[in-house]
Amino acid sequence: MRVPVVLSPVRWPRRPAAGARSRRRLTGFGLLALVGIATAPLPQAGAATAPCPAGSARPWCDPARSPDERAGLLLAAMTKQERIELLGGDELVGAIGLPGTHTGTLRGVSRLGLPTVHLTDGPAGIRSGRATALPAPVLVASSFSRSTAAAASTVLGTEAVARGNDVVLAPSLNMVRTPLGGRTFEVLGEDPYLAGQLAATQVHTLQSLGLIANVKHFAVNNQEGASTTPLGNLVAIGDLGSRFSVDARVDERTLREIYLPAFEATIKEGGALSVMCAYSRVNGVYACENRHLLTDILRDDWGFQGTVIADYGAAYSPARALKAGLNLDIWPGILLSPTTVGWSLLTGAVRQSTVDQRARETLRALFAGGVFDRPRGAAPTGIDVGAHDDRAARIAEDGMVLLRNERAALPLSPDTPGTIAVIGPEASMNKGGGGSSATAALRTTTPLGGLRARFGASRIAYSNGRDRARAARLAKGAAAAIVIVGDRASEGVDKPCLGLNCGQFDQIDRDALIEAVAEANPRTIVVLQTAGPVLTPWRERVAAILEAWYPGQAGGRAIARLIAGDAEPRGHLPLTFPASAADGPTDGDASRYPGVSTGSRIGHTATYSEGVLIGYRWYDAKQLSVAYPFGFGLSYTSWALSNLRIDAGSPATVRVTVTNTGSRTGTAAPQVYVGLPAPAPGATQAPWQLRGFDRVTLQPGASRDVAFQLTDRDLSSWSTAAGDWRIAPGCQRIAVGFSSRDLPLRGAVSRGTVGGDCG
Ligand code: BGC
Repeated sequence: MRVPVVLSPVRWPRRPAAGARSRRRLTGFGLLALVGIATAPLPQAGAATAPCPAGSARPWCDPARSPDERAGLLLAAMTKQERIELLGGDELVGAIGLPGTHTGTLRGVSRLGLPTVHLTDGPAGIRSGRATALPAPVLVASSFSRSTAAAASTVLGTEAVARGNDVVLAPSLNMVRTPLGGRTFEVLGEDPYLAGQLAATQVHTLQSLGLIANVKHFAVNNQEGASTTPLGNLVAIGDLGSRFSVDARVDERTLREIYLPAFEATIKEGGALSVMCAYSRVNGVYACENRHLLTDILRDDWGFQGTVIADYGAAYSPARALKAGLNLDIWPGILLSPTTVGWSLLTGAVRQSTVDQRARETLRALFAGGVFDRPRGAAPTGIDVGAHDDRAARIAEDGMVLLRNERAALPLSPDTPGTIAVIGPEASMNKGGGGSSATAALRTTTPLGGLRARFGASRIAYSNGRDRARAARLAKGAAAAIVIVGDRASEGVDKPCLGLNCGQFDQIDRDALIEAVAEANPRTIVVLQTAGPVLTPWRERVAAILEAWYPGQAGGRAIARLIAGDAEPRGHLPLTFPASAADGPTDGDASRYPGVSTGSRIGHTATYSEGVLIGYRWYDAKQLSVAYPFGFGLSYTSWALSNLRIDAGSPATVRVTVTNTGSRTGTAAPQVYVGLPAPAPGATQAPWQLRGFDRVTLQPGASRDVAFQLTDRDLSSWSTAAGDWRIAPGCQRIAVGFSSRDLPLRGAVSRGTVGGDCG
């Protein structure tokens, strides 16, 4: 998290006297410059017992009762003060991630056996001290694989449990509206269907491990803010269109079709028990005070029955937030403190019944998440460091994307005679993003380390690229030159521009370095460690490009195995690589991004006037050429798709045959797109929208049939007139291929009341 320095009431957690109420607070005023001088209480060692042990006489401990009933019974046993105290957290500095701490803590009520609940960040590895640094979520999205998403969450969840946590603040589900977004590495790309499918799997996986998954940041929190100064970039504070105050103006259809479906999938398909509301505003109302989001949509439309937690410091008015549907101000419980809530009750701004309802919803989530029935209180268990490192390596392989491979530059056999030049500042580091997803890795294999181990240290000649002439000399006589470069990205601030050098502070011109090495060696292989898309002006002059994203602690092993051909590249882009920095939906229009000042109001307003056209939807609708399209990724073998069959029932079934036409075993990701009629005359519509994907591993010459189901919802658009999903009359086109720009198989189903002309 970014820690704002605030002058506010501070409540320090205290250990309760034996048998007393477990939550005591001191209130005072202090300047919270969080420098890590204090740590949260260590998890208590001792015998592992469940808060509700078998045979407990407490009525809410009866596992035969529903979570609703159990929550109601416990709530009835709580005093008014205890209910109020369930609305605010008790952890001040845990978000720093020091060993033995938790990102958030909600103290329990010992007399009732309500346990203290611990929360941890985050999407790329837990933050309760050292942990397995997983590949960034953008890499997981690139796998186009639900099982890879589950594998990442299994590592995350197992370690969260081992460190005594109950809630994991993941996955992050905001959409990549602009690739400049500082958290692009932390989210699952630019397509709501892909993100939703993978995130629902992750939620399900985490919750199967006895945890509560908290999906964030609800909603339309798609920018951190641009910095107007280099200092802002350095310390990661974006002041222009800052996430803390920006007002996203977005129409209902765009909200429903683009910015909400990933969240919706985690609730309806994944069963998420917790949601984090965002800092920013949506249509003029702060997300954590937004009744339309938190109640009308989340609870009433989607049937969410969990707890809504405010992002850190994102709760503003107690009455507005509680009435809108906020349950918990976890950090550090200032806004929803006994004092502020008590005052709101006294003045009649909020009713006791609202407080009770919010407390009850949190209790229900804890019961449904198994917090009362899972043994706890034991000393933190160990993490299987080696096994998790292996899994991190495997996940990293799954999501790295081969963008270019000319003259069979890759794979590069370790038997190739000669020296291999490894060049670039990021060769000796595993890039990761800054902020609440930064992890303290348990071990690290850098790209250079991985290549040395695989190809033999004596054959690798290394230059960090600072001296470009030296790097070119090194490359000149080498069998191949591998240039490893990256970008810089962090929560808190957006990237100032899309080039590799943007926002870097080391004065190394990475684009010029690549050009110089490519000039010296025709077998130049570029490995990118980036948060998302970057400009690739040199792409036609290099032999190969492997996008490794922020690859996690075992990234170097994965890079070496893919380069050597020990593993097959199988990742696909979850976002578009534009050909030019001016082409994207928000480029060159400050009213869209980062937003403009509206005079009387605080903050900036970002108007989502591009509507549903984000990512490939925009590039397709505007017929713009791109560097590498959404869904794209090469492998070392070749593929064909044939035999499209469509059964237009409900759900419709789409079948295709996938064939490995090359000479190596490989993995393909066939993708299904729909081209839908506009929901109203004159309404904007994207040419194609992803609605199905799968992964298929086949030996050379082998074929397999793959089937995809398209529900009515998959064929629907949001009808503003009806306020609901509708299949618009006309022709629902279907296309199957290997990227949004490679859709060789075309067909249609025809639904709706009139038309249906698919001719
Ligand atoms: C981030 C959240 C994170 C929290 C705690 C906030 O700044 O937006 O994603 O969970 O900090 O670290």
